[in-house]
Formats: sequence, C-alpha cells, structure tokens
Amino acid sequence: MVKKDFISISDHDARTINHLIRQAYNLKAQARAGKKHELLQGESLAMIFDKPSTRTRVSFDVAMYELGGHAINITAGECGLGTRESVPDVARTLSRFCDAIMVRTFGHDIALGLAEHATVPVINGLTDLLHPCQAMADALTMYEITGDLKGVRLTYIGDANNVTNSLINLADKTGLDITVCAPKGYTPDEKILGGQFTLISDPVAAVKKADFIYTDVWASMGQEKLAAQKNKAFKDYQVNSQLLKKAPKNVKIMHCLPAHRGLEITDEVIDHPEKSIVFEQAENRLHAQKAILVYLLK
Ligand code: CP
Ligand code: NVA
Repeated sequence: MVKKDFISISDHDARTINHLIRQAYNLKAQARAGKKHELLQGESLAMIFDKPSTRTRVSFDVAMYELGGHAINITAGECGLGTRESVPDVARTLSRFCDAIMVRTFGHDIALGLAEHATVPVINGLTDLLHPCQAMADALTMYEITGDLKGVRLTYIGDANNVTNSLINLADKTGLDITVCAPKGYTPDEKILGGQFTLISDPVAAVKKADFIYTDVWASMGQEKLAAQKNKAFKDYQVNSQLLKKAPKNVKIMHCLPAHRGLEITDEVIDHPEKSIVFEQAENRLHAQKAILVYLLK
C-alpha cells in the first residue's frame, strides 16, 4: 500500500478534503457526547518542532491521547534536523519507532524531504509555505456555521503567507469563494499555488460581501527582522471596528492565532462576543487533526 502524507491540501482530491471536514465534525460531536473513539490504539506520533507552538503541539498531543495513541515531542535543538543528522536519516530512524511524523519547520523542502524518506505518513504542522492543518480546522469552523462551504465568501486581509496559501488550496477543494486583500509586494505567489482567488487591494471593498474575515500576523515566525518594515506596509490593513462597520452584519472574524493585538487586529474585534470565532478555530485544530491522523493511519 502506498503511504499517505499530509503536506499540502493540494495533494488530495476534493472528495478526500470534504470527507475529512465531515469526519472532523463527527469526531467533535462524539467527543462532545463523551463517546470514546480510540481508533489509533497503541500508535505513536513523533512531533518535531523547529519553531514555537502552542495550538499545534498541544492539539496533536491531545488528539493522539484521545485516539488511544501517544505523541512524542522533539524540539529541533534535540534532534538537529539537517544539522546533527541529515533529514533522510531522521526520517528513516523515526519511521522505525513511530507510526507517523508531524513536523513544524522553516523550509518546505525539509517537510518534503522527510515525507520522501520516511516509510510512515508525514504531516505538515506548518512550514514557511503552508499550514494545511490550520486550514482544515478553519474549514470545520466555517462548515459548523454554514453547513456547506460552496460559495461561502472568505476575505483574508494582510500578509499572504503560509496560512493564506493553505486557505487558497482549501478553496480549490471546497468551493469556498476566497478574496485576498494585501498591499503590493505581499500578495500570494500565483505560480506555486493550486487554486483561484480574487485579489483586492482596498480593505473596504474586500469586506463588503464577506461572510468571514480572516487575518494573521504581518511578520510570521522567522520574519522578526522584517517586523518594522512590514508593520509600515500593512498599516492600512488592520482589522478594526471601523472596517467591521463596512462588512455585512453577520460577518464572523477569524485568526489562526497567535495574534499580535493592536497590529493586524484590535482587541475589540478579536474579543467581539458575537463576531469573533477565533477560539472555536483553535479548538477545532484538535478535531481536524484527529480526522487527518485517522485518515493517514487507518
Ligand atoms: N495556529 C497555530 O498553528 O498555533 P501555534 O503556532 O500555537 O501552534
Ligand atoms: N503565519 C504565522 C502562522 C502561525 C500559526 C507564522 O508562520 O508565524
């Protein structure tokens, strides 16, 4: 049997992605009802973190535990991915101990290299290019509200980054109608992406018909030195109360977190009692990842 990986949403067909969203929905309902679903009894997941994490680390760990398995956290400093030991050798070694590998790192080629040389499934827990597990949790979050993602209007405002790229891939598989609103020089690279998006540079025009408004940090992990330059470039792209007034009444606010409050989003928007769904998104990492793990390992 050919092993499956979860490196990019674009590697999977629409049927699989939509099945994973429904499966995540069902697993969440089971968890809410107190029903056990120990589908991965005795299985182990190795997690390599080359960048910080709260949601990805804890949700994968709890997901494995609730599925009856076990997760092992390895920081990059410990395993020296590509420095102490080559990426292929780490992949081959972890494949002998564990049933799957999750990696969070900088270069996308590192995740691809692990997938190529591992004999067990490899999951992308964020690279500079993509964040597919986040987009799957976001899909579940929007699906819970709309019941169908086809034609749902998602406006992403800010830096076109790993999260944006995976949301564009998601739109391609689900029929989401995605608009990206970013200043010149910070728009998605059309060459590397599977999927269509509308590009609008004016935030007011971009949110006019939005069902969901999504933003993320302007300077991603590893871009700390660019922060001053990017804060300047994005100053007119903040998601704030003024912008919210230009959006439809029922619009929901999304952010993958962690947020840089006061930069890409203001406190009153991210803490908005009816409109903000950012902590539903965070929780849904757990349920979406369970669906991905079960799909890869069963
Ligand atoms: N959204 C997300 O991936 O959060 P962490 O960086 O805390 O894992
Ligand atoms: N774009 C952000 C996402 C964090 C979850 C980053 O890469 O830092």
